[in-house]
Amino acid sequence: MLSHEAEAYNLKVIFLPFLSTSHMIPMVDMARLFAMHGVDITIITTTSNAEIFQKSIDRDFNQGLSIKTHVVEFPAKEVGLPVGIEAMNANTSIDMADKIFKGFIMLQPQIENYLFGEIEVDCIISDMFYVWTVDVAAKLGIPRIVFCPASIFSRCTELSIEQHSSHTKVESDCDKFTIVGLPDKLEMNRLQLPNWVKKPDVPFGEMIKVVNNTTRKSYGAVFNSFYGLEGAYEEHYKNAFGTKCWSLGPVSLWANQDVSDKAERGDTNVEGDSSLFKWLNSKKENSVLYVSFGSMNKFPSSQLIEIAHALEVSSVDFIWVVRKSNDKEGEGFMEEFEKRVKESNKGYLIWGWAPQLLILENKAIGGIVTHCGWNTVVESLNVGLPMVTWPLFAEQFFHEKLVVEVLKIGVSLGIREWKNWNEFDTKDIVKRDDIAKAIGLVMTNRKEVEEMRLRAKNLSDDGKKAILVGGSSHANLIQIIEELKSLKHQRHYGN
Ligand SMILES: *[C@@H]1O[C@H](CO)[C@@H](O)[C@H](O)[C@H]1NC(C)=O
Ligand SMILES: *[C@@H]1O[C@H](CO)[C@@H](O)[C@H](O)[C@H]1NC(C)=O
Ligand SMILES: *[C@@H]1O[C@H](CO)[C@@H](O)[C@H](O)[C@H]1NC(C)=O
Ligand SMILES: *[C@@H]1O[C@H](CO)[C@@H](O)[C@H](O)[C@H]1NC(C)=O
Repeated sequence: MLSHEAEAYNLKVIFLPFLSTSHMIPMVDMARLFAMHGVDITIITTTSNAEIFQKSIDRDFNQGLSIKTHVVEFPAKEVGLPVGIEAMNANTSIDMADKIFKGFIMLQPQIENYLFGEIEVDCIISDMFYVWTVDVAAKLGIPRIVFCPASIFSRCTELSIEQHSSHTKVESDCDKFTIVGLPDKLEMNRLQLPNWVKKPDVPFGEMIKVVNNTTRKSYGAVFNSFYGLEGAYEEHYKNAFGTKCWSLGPVSLWANQDVSDKAERGDTNVEGDSSLFKWLNSKKENSVLYVSFGSMNKFPSSQLIEIAHALEVSSVDFIWVVRKSNDKEGEGFMEEFEKRVKESNKGYLIWGWAPQLLILENKAIGGIVTHCGWNTVVESLNVGLPMVTWPLFAEQFFHEKLVVEVLKIGVSLGIREWKNWNEFDTKDIVKRDDIAKAIGLVMTNRKEVEEMRLRAKNLSDDGKKAILVGGSSHANLIQIIEELKSLKHQRHYGN
C-alpha cells in the first residue's frame, strides 16, 4: 500500500466541480479519495463555493495529504449578481440560475490560464458541464475523465431513449414505451421524461447535446456508485458510450469516516446539532421517517401544508428537512405545526441544511421520503433504508425506476410528471392522503417491506465491501491511478 502510494505521489490530477451543491459534494469526496491514495489533487472552484468544503480539505492537508483548492474569481459584476452568489441551491431563482450559469461559462479563461501555466497536469476530472475541458485536455495531451452526478442507470436509459426514439412512437404522453436494450426490461411514459429528452430544442437541450458529445470524447467516466448497485449498467455504459466507466462509490461513506467530516459535509456552518441527536437517540429503532427533498428544492406553501398534515396523522415520528416557501399563503402555518409536533415529541423540523450522513446512520431512522436525487439515494442505501420515492426534476424519475423496479427497495408515490426545477402547478400538488398512504406502506413490518429492508440492507453491505481493499470501487480507483501513471510514463518516455 505504502510503496504504491509513494510511486503515485507525483501524479497531478485536477478536479473541476460544477457550481451546485449536488454536483460539488460528491466530487469533492471523490477528489479526497484520490488524495488519500497518494495522488496530488487540486480542486478548482470559486471563492464562496470553496468555503462550503474547505474545512475538510484543510483537515486532509494537515494530515499530510497532497490536496488543495485553487480559487478563481466568479464574475459576479459582469453577470449582474450580488457578490457571493455563486452556487445553485434552493435559494436560487431561475433568473439567478441563468446568471450563475453564464458566470460559470466565463470562468474558462481563468481556469485555462491555470491549466496551461507552469504546473504539469496529468489528468482533468471534469464535471460534465465543463464541456470545454475536452479540448484543453486534448491540447495538453492528457486524459479527460467526466464526472456525472447521477446514476449510471440514468445515463444508459437516456441514451437508449435518444437512440431508439421509442418515446416518439406512442400516441399519448401517458402511453408506456419500452426502453430498448437495457439489462432490465423497463417501461416509461413521456410525462416522466426530462424536457431535454422530450424536446431537445429547449435551450438546455443544446447544452445536453454538447455534454453528450464531450462525454463520448472523454477517456472515461466516473460515478458515485458501486458494482453491487448497478454493475450491469456499468458494463452496459462501456459499450453504449464507447468509453471506460468506473464506479467509485459510495463516496460519502468512503471519504467521510470521521464525525467532523460527516457533520460539516455540504455546509461548514452546521454544528453537530445536539438537541436533534438527543431527540433522535430517544426514539426506538426503525421508528422515525426521514423526509427530505434535497439541497435544491423549495415547495410552495400549499404543498408543505399537505406534507405536514400527512406527517401529523401518520403513526410514525419524523424528521423533516424543510425550506420556507417564498409565497405568503399559509403564513404562520408551519410555525404552528412545528410547535405542535415539538410539544407532542412526534416530529423534528430542520430548516435548511441537515447533517444528513449523521442522521441517516442513526438506528432510529427506519425509512426515507426522497426526491431521488442521486446523492441521497446512495446515502440512504449506505444505511439500507426502504424509500418512498417522490421524484421532481433532473434525472430523478430515472432513479425512481431504478429504486422501485430494478432494486425493489422503494414504494412509489406515483408522481405523474417531470417538471422543471422548482416549477410547481397547483394541479400537481400531492394530496395528504396519498402521502400518508405511501408513508404507511413503507413504515410497517409487512412482509413486502421486510423484504425491501433486507434487499436494501444487502446493498448496504455490498457498498461497504466495495470500498475495502479488494472491493470493486477500491479496485476501480487503483486501476484509474495505475492507468494514469502508465499514460504519464508514455508521454514522458514513449512506449
Ligand atoms: C437561503 O436563504 C435563507 C434566508 O435568507 C438563509 O437563511 C439560508 O442560509 C440560505 N441558504 C443557502 C444555502 O444559501
Ligand atoms: C448522443 O450521441 C449519440 C451518438 O452519437 C446519439 O445517438 C444521441 O442521439 C445523442 N444524444 C443527444 C441528446 O444528442
Ligand atoms: C455532436 O456530434 C455530432 C457528431 O460528431 C455532430 O454532428 C453534432 O453537431 C454535435 N453536436 C453538438 C451540439 O456539438
Ligand atoms: C442478499 O445477498 C445474498 C448474497 O448475495 C443473496 O443470496 C440473498 O438472496 C440476498 N437477499 C435479498 C433479500 O436480496
